[in-house]
Amino acid sequence: MRNKVYIETYGCQMNVADTELVMGILKKNGYEITKDADNANVVLLNTCSVRENAEQRIYGRLGNFKNMKNSKPELVVGILGCMAERLRQDLVEDKKIVDVVVGPDEYRHLPELIDAAFNGGKGIGVRLSRTETYDDIIPYREDGLQAWISVMRGCDKFCTFCVVPFTRGRERSRFLGSVVDEVRQLSMRGFREVTMLGQNVNSYKDNENDFADLLAAAAQVDRRMRIRFTTSHPQDLSDKLLYTIAEHPNVCNYIHLPVQSGSDRILRLMNRTYNIEQYLGLIEKAKKIIPGVSFSTDIISGFPTETYEDHVMTLDVMREVRYDGAYMFKYSPREGTKAYKMEDDVSEEIKTKRLQEIIELQQQISFEKNRELIEMEEIVLVEGKSRKSDEFLTGRTDTNKVVIIPSHENIKEGSYVKVKINRATSATLFGEFVDFVYPDENKIALTA
Ligand code: SAH
Ligand code: SF4
Ligand code: F3S
Repeated sequence: MRNKVYIETYGCQMNVADTELVMGILKKNGYEITKDADNANVVLLNTCSVRENAEQRIYGRLGNFKNMKNSKPELVVGILGCMAERLRQDLVEDKKIVDVVVGPDEYRHLPELIDAAFNGGKGIGVRLSRTETYDDIIPYREDGLQAWISVMRGCDKFCTFCVVPFTRGRERSRFLGSVVDEVRQLSMRGFREVTMLGQNVNSYKDNENDFADLLAAAAQVDRRMRIRFTTSHPQDLSDKLLYTIAEHPNVCNYIHLPVQSGSDRILRLMNRTYNIEQYLGLIEKAKKIIPGVSFSTDIISGFPTETYEDHVMTLDVMREVRYDGAYMFKYSPREGTKAYKMEDDVSEEIKTKRLQEIIELQQQISFEKNRELIEMEEIVLVEGKSRKSDEFLTGRTDTNKVVIIPSHENIKEGSYVKVKINRATSATLFGEFVDFVYPDENKIALTA
């Protein structure tokens, strides 16, 4: 039988969601998914190109599969996702490791492309599409509490450092009705949280409906279900969206709003289309409209020409906003982007030093913010046993903080419980059970 597929996923949550799509497509075509690579006849890597080290890891992994293929020549090795778009030539023609290369808009053809490889050819599909949204395809998901839903694909922002517009193509959105149906099906299966995904969800558009309409519609499906979303580009975060978040108790009060840099000069070079005054204005407005809202961000250190003063401005913005969390990166030049043509003139040593300062500051802020929650009550969605011990349960707050509480036979996965926080680190809150929050009360409790 040639029907066992093993898939490994790298990169962002969109790739995680795409892997579920791919599994949906393959299962429908008679393939079985295996979690054991040794047991597979098809091995697929869903790849990421966003930074050099992401690609390096994947090349390393391909080396392992090359060895596997040496002892099992009929094994089909495939590359999916963002590297497929960028490195088709390199992967198939020069390195001769892979038999199948399929970019993010050609997953429908994966079964034929794998067949081509089994028949001794190469299966290649790397065209980008202006319309493909896979709206009609049901992703394969194991049962659980949390699900990702891609609501749009591609990106039109063209930040100068970023490969995504090249690897994923132009922006396009799914139909509102189809997303809402998917939320409904997940609710019926017992899911308790969905995250709406897009590189820039705020530019979602389905005829008259914008992203605020989509969130409102999804929130009404099942009030016990938490609705999250990522990522918001500061340029498109509308007042209507802020009011929608405030209005729906089950839309989480949490916005991932990448700032990238604290220097207006660097932001201009990055083509981010906002300055720090506008960005901070947006944060202020969001805090007024959504009481208790929290923010996370992405930061790049060492973009071309970044001076020490620019770096200090980034630290200042972090102190001003006091993010709950941050994803922090060293600038990595990507071929084909505008910034690639600028000289990568901040040395590796300085990038590392600045990044370290950024990380340390964020840890300190996260720790302080978490400590402020001691003695407070939070509503926690219980996700299951803690990784470290069966004696404890783990869950998350509305603002996405991990909370650990002692186990109790009556507290089940998927329950909402009120927890009093009594200890905090920079990454985790620890607390004790106070009360159950039943679905109807939950509505009230979340609104209060
Ligand atoms: N669409 C999202 C994020 C896409 S990539 C957004 O606009 O926020 C996730 C993060 O990776 C980016 O926010 C950025 O901080 C980082 N990133 C992207 N390209 C990079 C590069 N060339 N070097 C370093 N970090 C990069
Ligand atoms: Fe990349 Fe900018 Fe698009 Fe985000 S908004 S995916 S950083 S180009
Ligand atoms: Fe990576 Fe592609 Fe996501 S480049 S970050 S997997 S969109």
